[in-house]
Parts: sequence; C-alpha cells; structure tokens
Amino acid sequence: MTLKHVVIGGGTGFIGTQIVNLLSHKGISYTCISRMPGPNRISWHDLECYGLPENTTAVINVAGQNILDPKQRWSEGFKQNVINSRVETTKSLAKAIIYTKADAFVTISGVSYYKPNDKEYTEESKCEKYDFLSKLCHEWEAAAQLPKDSNIRQTTIRSGVVLGKTGGMIKQIYLPFFFGLGGPIANGNQYMPWIHISDLVNLFLFSIENKTVHGILNGVAPQVIN
Ligand SMILES: NC(=O)c1ccc[n+]([C@@H]2O[C@H](COP(=O)([O-])OP(=O)(O)OC[C@H]3O[C@@H](n4cnc5c(N)ncnc54)[C@H](OP(=O)(O)O)[C@@H]3O)[C@@H](O)[C@H]2O)c1
Repeated sequence: MTLKHVVIGGGTGFIGTQIVNLLSHKGISYTCISRMPGPNRISWHDLECYGLPENTTAVINVAGQNILDPKQRWSEGFKQNVINSRVETTKSLAKAIIYTKADAFVTISGVSYYKPNDKEYTEESKCEKYDFLSKLCHEWEAAAQLPKDSNIRQTTIRSGVVLGKTGGMIKQIYLPFFFGLGGPIANGNQYMPWIHISDLVNLFLFSIENKTVHGILNGVAPQVIN
C-alpha cells in the first residue's frame, strides 16, 4: 500500500523516535501525539476534539508511562498511570481511526502476556491473566480491537525487551555497568525474550505496509536468553 501519512501515539519515546526516523528516511510524513507541544505533533486533547489528520493512512500506538523508571515507587497511583497511559491512549486512537480512511492500526503490547515457563509460545497461544503486567497486556490488547465491520487491519505486536543504545533497558542499566558495578538482574536465570530496536521498528513498518498482516505478532528474537 502507499503510505501517505502515519500518526504515532508516543512517537517521542525510545521506540517512537526510531519509528519516526525510519518513516522520515523513507520519505513518509508523520504526526506524533504527545503531551508536549512541538513540530509535527498534536496533543491527546487535540485528538479527542478534532480527530486524526484527514490524510492519515496508518496509526501506531507506542505510548506508555515508563515502567523501568527507578525513581518511581510502584504505588497504586503509579500503576493506574501505567495502565491508563497505555489502555486509554489505545482506546482514543481506536475510536478516532474509524472516522478516517486509514488502512492499518498497529499497537504494541508485551510478552508479559505469556506466563514464563519452559513452554514455547506462538501467536496462537492463549494465556490467562496471572499478574499485574499480564492483566495490563490483556486490557491493552482489548483496547485496540476495532468494530468487526471496519475495513481497517488491526495488528498488535507483543514485544520482548527492546534492546538499543538510545533507550529502554540498556540505557537504564548502562551507568552501573560503566562504573563496573553491574551484575545479574534478579537471580539472572529468568527468561528474557528480547528484540533489537531496528527489528522492532521494521516490524511496525512491515505491519502497516503489508495488506495480509493482522492480529498478533510476537516481536522477539528467535533465540531465547536465560
Ligand atoms: N522498551 C521496551 O523494552 C518495551 C518492551 C515492550 C513494550 N514496550 C512498550 O512500548 C511503549 C513505548 O516504550 P518506550 O521504551 O519507547 O518508552 P518511552 O521511551 O518511555 O516512551 C514512552 C512514550 O509514551 C508517552 N507517554 C509517557 N507517559 C504517558 C502518559 N501518561 N500518557 C500518554 N503518553 C505517555 C511519551 O510521550 P510524551 O512524553 O511525548 O507525551 C513517550 O513518547 C510502552 O508502552 C512500553 O510499555 C516497551
């Protein structure tokens, strides 16, 4: 399909910025939805009031309060913010996209959907909610569902831990390792499904460009590290 204009909720973050860079590199125009004003940006309030830009051909959502922020205590208020910043933003975009001629709606979720064990999971695997993050993934994915009669392809990428120099986990743990103070996280034996940032952003582009792609995609590298 011809991509004319892509709207990205959370386009200012670690993943969003790399999606924007890839789109710009390919000459595709974009608008980010952000809480802060800036060039090529609209706010969530603008979205609520005026909807998506008229020429929108695809919508992506990668917004969400950072759960790796070491300065934040996991209070009930913080957890509610973690949920709302993902579920409510996804719901707002799902509501707005049906009034456009967009072809694709691609959102992110996490591999926390799957209960960690020795089983190999596929996109078809169904898991019950078992903790806060898995419950979050269920609600996040439900928020992205579009009415059955819409002609818009909906895809959710269940991403592993995203590795890249400019953000995410590597950025959070870089400093202690730089000073020689790094070490195993928890007991170091847990599974850590992961994906490189450039593979993830290309998966987003693949999902919006290819008419046959819809439903769940597991965004993880083929090798398991534990
Ligand atoms: N990084 C990973 O390893 C990983 C793995 C799996 C899933 N994910 C998910 O992917 C998404 C993006 O991750 P990231 O690493 O790019 O995060 P990030 O760098 O912290 O960026 C988060 C983005 O969300 C927006 N945001 C933050 N709090 C918000 C709020 N309360 N309401 C609305 N927007 C808010 C920010 O936009 P403004 O500040 O401009 O408003 C920012 O653009 C998150 O939902 C995350 O859970 C990430």
